[in-house]
Amino acid sequence: MISLKNKAQISKMRDAGKILYEVEQEVRQAIRPGVTTAQLDILAERLIRKNRAIPSSLHYEGYPCSICASINDEVVHGIPSDRRVLKEGDIISIDCTVLLDGWQADSAFTAGVGTISAEAEKLIRVTEECFWKAMQECVTGKRLGDIGHAVQQHAETNGCTPIREFTGHGIGREMHEDPSVLNYGEPGRGLRLRGGMTLAIEPMISAGDWHLSVDEDGWCARTLDHSLTAHYEHTIAVAEEGLPEILTLPGFSWEA
Ligand code: MF3
Ligand code: CO
Ligand code: CO
Repeated sequence: MISLKNKAQISKMRDAGKILYEVEQEVRQAIRPGVTTAQLDILAERLIRKNRAIPSSLHYEGYPCSICASINDEVVHGIPSDRRVLKEGDIISIDCTVLLDGWQADSAFTAGVGTISAEAEKLIRVTEECFWKAMQECVTGKRLGDIGHAVQQHAETNGCTPIREFTGHGIGREMHEDPSVLNYGEPGRGLRLRGGMTLAIEPMISAGDWHLSVDEDGWCARTLDHSLTAHYEHTIAVAEEGLPEILTLPGFSWEA
């Protein structure tokens, strides 16, 4: 079931999104060689709670931490650990969800650790571009297939591949609501978008093949061919007219 949100509800999600944005800025600044993913998790949890919000991932279906920290070939759900030390040239995807006053916000980004390869730089850039291509389709009257197609088209044009086993999703009172938002698809197919839909749009892109395996911890998903992957996610609200509001990018406006 898809729940449309009214202005007051979207406003609460915007408040959650602002906190999440600030948390992610702090985590981004802490990324450097020698830092452990556990340190990033502790930093995120402390900032979330300081803002009187709740880290939604912690205990979600048994997940043990407040962020997912996925390095290089790890796509999603990398569990922070004090044995995972970032090293020069790694790329790390940080994915975090916060709950404020009953409303969720979900966002992810990939960053380089120190100097990274040209291939890694390109993958991060293409993944972010996939998100912005998707935004052009998050418009009342367009369909979910238009979003998926936009992501797939941009990834494949650049020699990359969207991940298929994980998707974007509706979001609101719950972290994961209907519908699923695939990162591949056919234009003109699928559910029609409407004002008041709130969605987590999250291209997950591989520099190689999209097939994944899950580690023995039951969480961490990585590419079978060990290709690098990147992730870029924001929570957005479809508008009645025109381009969506990006709830996890406070102050952002489409006017240049
Ligand atoms: N933030 C993730 C998403 O984008 C979900 C987190 S899974 C958890 O959908 F187990 F870490 F909570
Ligand atoms: Co997320
Ligand atoms: Co999400």
